[in-house]
Amino acid sequence: MPALGFGSGTRSDSQEISDAVVCAIKLGYRHFDTASVYGTEAAIGAGLAQAMDAGLVTRPQLFVTSKLHSDMHDDVLGAVKSSLSNLKLDYLDLYLIHAPLKIRRTNYASFPAEEDFLPLDLRGTWQGMEECLQQGLARAIGVSNFSVKKLQDLMEHAKVIPAVNQVELHPVWQQRKLRDFCSSVGIQVVAWSPLGGLGKPWGSRSVLDNPVVQELASKYQKTPAQIILRWITTRGLGAIVKSYNPDRLAQNLQSFDFSLSEQDLAKIESIAPQERLAKWEMLCNSTTSPYKSPQELWDGEL
Ligand code: A2P
Repeated sequence: MPALGFGSGTRSDSQEISDAVVCAIKLGYRHFDTASVYGTEAAIGAGLAQAMDAGLVTRPQLFVTSKLHSDMHDDVLGAVKSSLSNLKLDYLDLYLIHAPLKIRRTNYASFPAEEDFLPLDLRGTWQGMEECLQQGLARAIGVSNFSVKKLQDLMEHAKVIPAVNQVELHPVWQQRKLRDFCSSVGIQVVAWSPLGGLGKPWGSRSVLDNPVVQELASKYQKTPAQIILRWITTRGLGAIVKSYNPDRLAQNLQSFDFSLSEQDLAKIESIAPQERLAKWEMLCNSTTSPYKSPQELWDGEL
């Protein structure tokens, strides 16, 4: 999997997204990340088709990820087929369970209401994911937003170990416990919101503005984003960055043309306090959600 992925978790004009995909491919991006709930699959697919038609890239050179929305756990095959149809592809390189949550069919417009939560059956959902693999609809399957405990529970019954766990990860929330566990069992960790998720409800400047990140940006004559991305990829993790802006797409790819010293990597790793930004309180309630609190949702990893 190419370490740096093009993120599409921001809704925007379809043409802008397709143009950004073509631009990204010209710059050298090969990894594209989307999800049914983002509403961006069709625009990503149109951009990929345009690039392939123009001979810029072939399907085997691309790595395309999409995710199972929480309202489709009871029909994983139907969901993956719908994503493939939106993307105009005949297979995904990676299909992820978007979150450890099952809800009624929604209009995707907002977080679930109290009456939308359904009892979770991750074992059954994972069997559906394994079926996607068997049918060749996805070349690899994984999860997103899973704690160590949820991974362990899943792996107890899984025939196939998740290839990836895509989670919030950046200098202010480095996920040390989860990373150690994933590396011990061969699960690739991929960072979402590696730059702190500006523009999202939980987004924070505390990541790009962190004094250690800023100091290293001056020292290496790089941008804070490049310092962060270099740290992530040097540590063997993947990163999905959201931007449709050609300059920032290019800038983020230019995070590979320098090295951080071991001492400076350690400096980033000494950043304190560590804090999860996206706690997702709105997925917790004391009546219908499987999680009464963020403590339960994240199994204490906060
Ligand atoms: P924009 O969409 O205007 O390019 P994350 O991937 O951590 O969720 O962060 C996404 C946010 O980070 C977006 O607001 C995006 O802005 C911004 N962003 C992406 N690349 C950079 C960069 N190189 N420098 C600063 N901000 C960036």
